[in-house]
Amino acid sequence: MYRTFYNNEVSKKELNQRVELVGWIKTIRDFGAFSFIDLRDRSGIIQLVIKDKNLIKDLGNEDVITIKGIVNLREQPNLKLLNGDIEVIVEELKLLSKAALTPFIVDDKTDALEDTRLKYRYLDLRRPILQKNLKIRAQITQIVRSYLDRHDFLEIETPLLCLSTPEGARDYLVPSRVNKGSFYALPQSPQIFKQLLMIGGLERYYQVAKCLRDEDLRSDRQPEFTQIDIETSFLGQDELLTLMEGLLKEIFQKIAHYDLTLPLRRLPYLDAIAIYGSDKPDTRFDLKLCDLEDVLLGHTCPFFQDRIRGFVVNNYAHKCTRKELDRLNLEAKKFLSSGLYMIKKENGEIVSSLKKFFNDAIIERLNKHFLQEGDVLLLGEGPYLKLSLMLGAIRKMLGDELNLYDKNSFDLLWVTDFPLFEKRDDGTFTSSHHPFTRPKDESLKDLDSDPSKVLSYAYDIVINGYEAGGGSLRIYDKKIQNKVFEILGLSEEDIKRKFGFFIEAFNYGTPPHGGIAFGLERLTMILAHTDNIRDVIAFPKNLKAIDMMSNAPKPVDESQLKDLGIAIIKNN
Ligand code: AMO
Repeated sequence: MYRTFYNNEVSKKELNQRVELVGWIKTIRDFGAFSFIDLRDRSGIIQLVIKDKNLIKDLGNEDVITIKGIVNLREQPNLKLLNGDIEVIVEELKLLSKAALTPFIVDDKTDALEDTRLKYRYLDLRRPILQKNLKIRAQITQIVRSYLDRHDFLEIETPLLCLSTPEGARDYLVPSRVNKGSFYALPQSPQIFKQLLMIGGLERYYQVAKCLRDEDLRSDRQPEFTQIDIETSFLGQDELLTLMEGLLKEIFQKIAHYDLTLPLRRLPYLDAIAIYGSDKPDTRFDLKLCDLEDVLLGHTCPFFQDRIRGFVVNNYAHKCTRKELDRLNLEAKKFLSSGLYMIKKENGEIVSSLKKFFNDAIIERLNKHFLQEGDVLLLGEGPYLKLSLMLGAIRKMLGDELNLYDKNSFDLLWVTDFPLFEKRDDGTFTSSHHPFTRPKDESLKDLDSDPSKVLSYAYDIVINGYEAGGGSLRIYDKKIQNKVFEILGLSEEDIKRKFGFFIEAFNYGTPPHGGIAFGLERLTMILAHTDNIRDVIAFPKNLKAIDMMSNAPKPVDESQLKDLGIAIIKNN
């Protein structure tokens, strides 16, 4: 009714033909005798030529128009546009909807503040870059559905109103009107349900699942996000990872035309920390960490007492001034209060504020084994994990800043064998992933003696330094599950109250099972080459978890609260 072609479909093939188009006016340029309109629709932009001024007398940017016109060859082709060699000479033009003056110019290049763009998200969504990102996101889900369907998976939906179970983040709670004083929780993930589906004999499940977590937000984290959630029965870890690699291969091939070499690298967690100082390392560049005790420790160097680790950055000496080190330390000290030191080799000399502690042997070792002219050794001292994570964060920062890798390339690997527990400062344990993660067979012996040593069948898929997905094999033996709960400090009473229904299901024949969840937004971010998660969500929240359009969350009517039996305690 409105169009015979999308803008981008019109080509030289239609030369001298009559076409009908529809879209938004991006710009109007007046050249006296005639005017140009750039008309935008979902497919792109096309140039319209208006010879009759009356047709555009009251028109402005973002008005919705439909036109009829004849395709013409352009005198000066615009090579940036797919259809830049043609234009349409307008014969008829109809205004369908008049636009008010927009709060910002609708274009990929914009200086509007993000909160303003989020407030008028429907305008922001007209920008081609956002449309491109949402298209990639839609393509990923299509590929996922097709691949998993071909591999016998069933798409099954699970509830949004659930029991609150401890899963890591805070729950979003929903008060029940019918059962006053009681609350549902919105799912942080469908974890419990997907395991129950396995106990229920469904064998291969997936879902494009909404997950909700009340946690501090970051550039790659939203309170409401989407997982490609998967669970399987009767597969070992290798089989499951291979199946998932096939899916990733298809996604990268179809969307980025990038051929993944399979199998992907598998890097045990302990090695990831040792080499890269991160459980989600970007391995597109080296800057590998190393232990420095052998190089620096000695009775003449009393400065260091704890573990000493660091990494060498080539050709950085001239940049690595006192001021630069202070800047790096702003980041480093977030991880480790003692921060970062530097030893560099400039003009053949070892230069460092630590030099006064070094004897000749240390200087010789540095010269011989570590530092070439122009090199900088960045190092720190402290407890192994904290120190390594600090160095890992600086490594990542410098990799980005010094352009040590091609930003358009892709780097995928599995990080495997995560520790089952994390030890809190007070000596108690929490789950590294979630309480249902299966300890590795060879680690079972450590469950009683030293839980901090227990490794698990847990794996993350790491892409370009992002955790793009994670999963594990699950415990299917009730005794082991209870042991894990016990180590987590959950009493019989706690277990019954929090997971009673779930644990009971394990009494009736549980298949060995395991799964994974990919972060759909993270995958899209990586494939769209953006580091802002809000760029791949149609209607995201800002960093304060506010929907800038509606200003949700907001107080509700007194009567609504009364129905729910809820009173608000006002802080003074
Ligand atoms: P996990 O908590 O690791 O595992 O989540 C899986 C993946 O979801 C993405 N993700 C997020 N994306 C955006 N915003 C967030 N707030 C956010 N939180 C997580 C990440 C992450 O790797 N049930 C388990 C999976 C399993 O064991 O099968 C789970 O939820 O990409």
